[in-house]
Amino acid sequence: MLITSNQSNSELLKTEQLVYAEYKSANLNLDMSRGKPCPAQLDLSQGMFDILTSSTVIKGAQDYRNYGLLDGIPEFKKIVCDLINVQPSELLLGGNSSLNLMYDSVQRAMQFGILGGTPFNKQGKIKWLCPVPGYDRHFAITETFGIEMINVPLDENGPDINFIKAQIKDPAVKGMWCVPKYSNPTGIVYSDSIVEQLATLKPAASDFRIYWDNAYMIHTLEEQDTPLLNILTIAKQNNNADIVYIFGSTSKITFAGGGIAFIASSEKNMSEIKKRMSMQTIGHDKINQFAHYSFFKTSTNIIEHMQKHAKIIKPKFDIVINTLETLLDANIAKWSYPKGGYFISCDLAHGTAKRTIALAKEAGVIFTPAGSTYPYGNDPLDSNVRIAPTLPSLQDLSTAMKVFCVAAKIAYLEKHA
Ligand SMILES: Cc1ncc(COP(=O)(O)O)c(C=O)c1O
Repeated sequence: MLITSNQSNSELLKTEQLVYAEYKSANLNLDMSRGKPCPAQLDLSQGMFDILTSSTVIKGAQDYRNYGLLDGIPEFKKIVCDLINVQPSELLLGGNSSLNLMYDSVQRAMQFGILGGTPFNKQGKIKWLCPVPGYDRHFAITETFGIEMINVPLDENGPDINFIKAQIKDPAVKGMWCVPKYSNPTGIVYSDSIVEQLATLKPAASDFRIYWDNAYMIHTLEEQDTPLLNILTIAKQNNNADIVYIFGSTSKITFAGGGIAFIASSEKNMSEIKKRMSMQTIGHDKINQFAHYSFFKTSTNIIEHMQKHAKIIKPKFDIVINTLETLLDANIAKWSYPKGGYFISCDLAHGTAKRTIALAKEAGVIFTPAGSTYPYGNDPLDSNVRIAPTLPSLQDLSTAMKVFCVAAKIAYLEKHA
């Protein structure tokens, strides 16, 4: 029911409370909190387990069962290079987690500095630009290191570039998180103009880096992927190659628990990263890299594989959006219409997000905590909620979203009764 009737808000509140009580008595136990692939998505890559057998020759540039090749096997590197359009010398394949590579990159800068610069932890207070709403685990990394985070407004074209240009005049500003494509959680793709301006930034701090987390680089929900300009190419063309570290992984292509992560950057940055990393490991899991290579063989096959993911998860995004459209009006919520990625971002009436999530929880439906899309868990408007549609079944999703909507209506009406 949309709030368009002639009933007073206190009457409407009573009606919604009755609906809510019914859901509450159903003893639901649903979790919508994290952007995980569903079992059917994981099954798409199950064939990888049939590829390596005791008679497989796990060999190419060398015997991949043995030590070596810190930056990964050339066969799978070529596939990733084709996908993100970088040179093999600019790419390193890591373990299964790009988040781990991001954490290590911040840690490295804190402890050892960047390209001969003073370690961050010897430079006094340092600051980081955080487009909001954004990814909670990014903010958790910078918070862990005691870095002061600055909210950067984000719209459908990307982060506010004039704000960024003003901030980077301060040499204490050392970094910036970006999810440039199908952003977590808003789903936006940075416009060409924003990518170009970011690639050519001239920060006061020579050790400022853009931490370009391209987690959803090919994760379209449609037949046509939305293109994103290649930031490293533009940076190189403008003599600014060292400004960016690019991250990504196959966590949401193959297995979130056993994919391949990567970092890409200028050769200068990469040689520093490899020097430090060679103290941590002799090499990552080349057998998994070989399994991934053997399963896909080409980047084109990976792109086709992503269409199979889209077929599974697009109906889930549709359910969320249809339910929001049917049950909520613009006073209560506005939401994103993503063309890819893993999330729908919902902005509730100011001051109602925490209450909405608490009501949903009381009725047995867990959503990502309100505030978690902001640094320090502090959404100044108490408005943004990240909805993660991929994991639940269609039926659970439908129920969860109905609970979300009734909770949002109650939270709104309580404030406006
Ligand atoms: C923006 C973003 N980056 C990174 C990750 C995690 O990546 P990985 O599995 O490679 O550590 C996620 C997972 O939800 C994400 O949304």
